[in-house]
Amino acid sequence: MNILIVGSGAREHAIAKALHRSLQNPTIFCCGTTRNPGIEALTANYYVGDICAIEDIVEQGLQWKIDLAIIGPEAPLEKGLADALWHAAIPTVGPQQQLAKLETSKTFTRDLQKKYHIPGALDYRVFKSLVGVQEYLHYLGEHHYVIKADGLMGGKGVKVAGDHLHSFAEALLFCEELIAQGCAFVIEEKLIGQEFSAMCFCDGNQLVSMPLVQDHKRAYVGDLGPNTGGMGTYSHADHLLPFLTAADANQAQLINKNMLAALTAEFNLPYVGILYGSFIATQKGVQLIEYNARFGDPEAMNVLAILESDFVTICQAMVNGTLTCEQVVFSNLATVCKYAVPHGYPDSPVKNVEISIDLFENQDQLYLSAVNIEKGKLLATGSRTAAVVGVANTISAAEQLAEREINKIQGPLFHREDIGTEALIKQKVLQMKQLREPELIT
Ligand code: AMP
Ligand code: GLY
Repeated sequence: MNILIVGSGAREHAIAKALHRSLQNPTIFCCGTTRNPGIEALTANYYVGDICAIEDIVEQGLQWKIDLAIIGPEAPLEKGLADALWHAAIPTVGPQQQLAKLETSKTFTRDLQKKYHIPGALDYRVFKSLVGVQEYLHYLGEHHYVIKADGLMGGKGVKVAGDHLHSFAEALLFCEELIAQGCAFVIEEKLIGQEFSAMCFCDGNQLVSMPLVQDHKRAYVGDLGPNTGGMGTYSHADHLLPFLTAADANQAQLINKNMLAALTAEFNLPYVGILYGSFIATQKGVQLIEYNARFGDPEAMNVLAILESDFVTICQAMVNGTLTCEQVVFSNLATVCKYAVPHGYPDSPVKNVEISIDLFENQDQLYLSAVNIEKGKLLATGSRTAAVVGVANTISAAEQLAEREINKIQGPLFHREDIGTEALIKQKVLQMKQLREPELIT
């Protein structure tokens, strides 16, 4: 069986490892924007090029006689790669272009949520000009709004009052910037609470949930600094999270289910791939932050590291519309994933600096991302460099494993030492407790 992975980051390295573990012994191929040596070591053939050049990717797929494709990142989904691959008779894990609007258009998703009365909704309005912006900002209040560009902006399209915007004047300036770029935008109520990722496998009809994961978007220890693609993640052995109740998890799954039903009703197309709801547990319950139409990065590494079932079988079931809950088993183990990133990341990272990971003991849990090999040297190219995952009975033990291993990656890199530590988790649990029971605050 020939399987194509589209994408070349650590998430795709995790996908490649999960495929490689399969007893079905597939032959793996990759189309990536860069040559990831970790993925390359697991593949029979590797094409480097623009993964949004749909015709080129389909041609590669046909040349390699691909039986099944898995699309890692969102950009090719937005361009309709899944549609084109299906059209070329290559079954594909990753939703078609219209369905991927769930991720690619924030206004579409908020409007869909409203139209179908899906729970977890919040106060929002869509704008295309400055008309009404000032009034709406005042209505939400000085520190109580978030502004989101409508479209894929590589993590730079969302600004939160109090964090990134410090006055109405700054907010208006950001809106003007977006209008100048021809972007519509959403202004919505700012929510306070703990965020979490609820990903599911989907075969167009059946949704099967993965363990919940919490990401850390901020660059520095203590959840400080600029937003990043995600510095690290953890998951709990019981597949919930320490600050969540089972009711919270059920609510997130209900929203995912309703969203799938709404999408299906809207487009009459099967959603095949990963449906990833990003939620926040608040005083008012679980609310929706956004949707992604793919695996999270780093979240993919947490869940795939403890997937007991055969990943190839799950992918086949997704594309054939035969997915069942019984097919998907995860170990009851905790995971902590940490990314090493170049000094200066994300705003002004050092680029093409030499790194070394020779002493690594557990290669199974090392995932390469923005690296390159030049003249035999391993270089960090500027984005997130490499991730490690600790897997153990408790989050704390998994954290210690991840920390031990990540310190073996040498070079001008840094990582967040606090992700998954008992101290940080205690803080999160306490914050949720205070939000849920404000009368307890002394
Ligand atoms: P998004 O791209 O929509 O995931 O937004 C990026 C980050 O902005 C999220 O991970 C949150 O930390 C923050 N964010 C987005 N929407 C909201 C909201 N309504 N309230 C508070 N924070 C938000
Ligand atoms: N971890 C956040 C994302 O993949 O979008």
